[in-house]
Amino acid sequence: MKVIHTISELKGELDNCRSLGKSIGLVPTMGALHKGHASLVERAVAENDVVVVSIFVNPTQFNDKNDLKNYPRTLEADCALLESVGAAIAFAPSVGEMYPEPDTREFSFAPLDTVMEGACRPGHFNGVAQIVSKLFYAVEPHKAYFGEKDFQQLAIIREMVHRLALDLQIVGCPIVREPDGLALSSRNTLLTSEERERALTISRTLFASLEFAKENTLAATKAFVEKAINDTEGLELEYYQIVDGNTLQEIQEWSDSDYVVGCIALFCGKIRLIDNIKY
Ligand code: PAF
Repeated sequence: MKVIHTISELKGELDNCRSLGKSIGLVPTMGALHKGHASLVERAVAENDVVVVSIFVNPTQFNDKNDLKNYPRTLEADCALLESVGAAIAFAPSVGEMYPEPDTREFSFAPLDTVMEGACRPGHFNGVAQIVSKLFYAVEPHKAYFGEKDFQQLAIIREMVHRLALDLQIVGCPIVREPDGLALSSRNTLLTSEERERALTISRTLFASLEFAKENTLAATKAFVEKAINDTEGLELEYYQIVDGNTLQEIQEWSDSDYVVGCIALFCGKIRLIDNIKY
């Protein structure tokens, strides 16, 4: 596996691959890789000749300076994992390489980006669109892979590709969970063992709500989840919204959509976690 730090070297390498008729898959990440990322890379390796994994903690998508400062950075371990799952290139640029000057582009994906994460983390999706579009221009992949844990991000990236008329396929991949149910996240490593225990309430509640939903209204199911989280000491709910999976807008009745997704964001101590479930 090659570790590349500059766009010009990356482009040179990929032009070579393209001239040999090879297909290119991209998995954008912020590093601190776990089994969830590995599953994206494995899928990309199965579906493309050459897989590029970008590792870049993108400052423009952090609306909280402490979150950016504390975000885990584990390049050496990341490269070992990527090599073991068959990535061809790890692209790990510096901030100066990706942002030689400030990116002043302003994206709006309303109403997709005005709800949930967009409402709680102002500027977050603008930063995501800035970096992901730069990565798409640098790599020009045939396919790019994103996890469904960041459900809203996936919808927004699909919309961005559509609006910018980019010629690539976005592949959404299912959430990978720990054996006990906790959705894998790079931020899980920041949880104390006590917080890790409490965080289990999230997936347990979401799964219990699937059963509850069979016999109850959407409003009652929403209240069921909110109460379970609010009753757990150490968890602070930011939102639980039951939305149409395409528009990301809240719905009122189960019959309002045939693609219903419950999206949750909360603080477990100081660590912000998200998860979601399909009804
Ligand atoms: O999901 C992530 O890790 C990031 O938002 C992404 C897509 C790599 C952009 O920085």
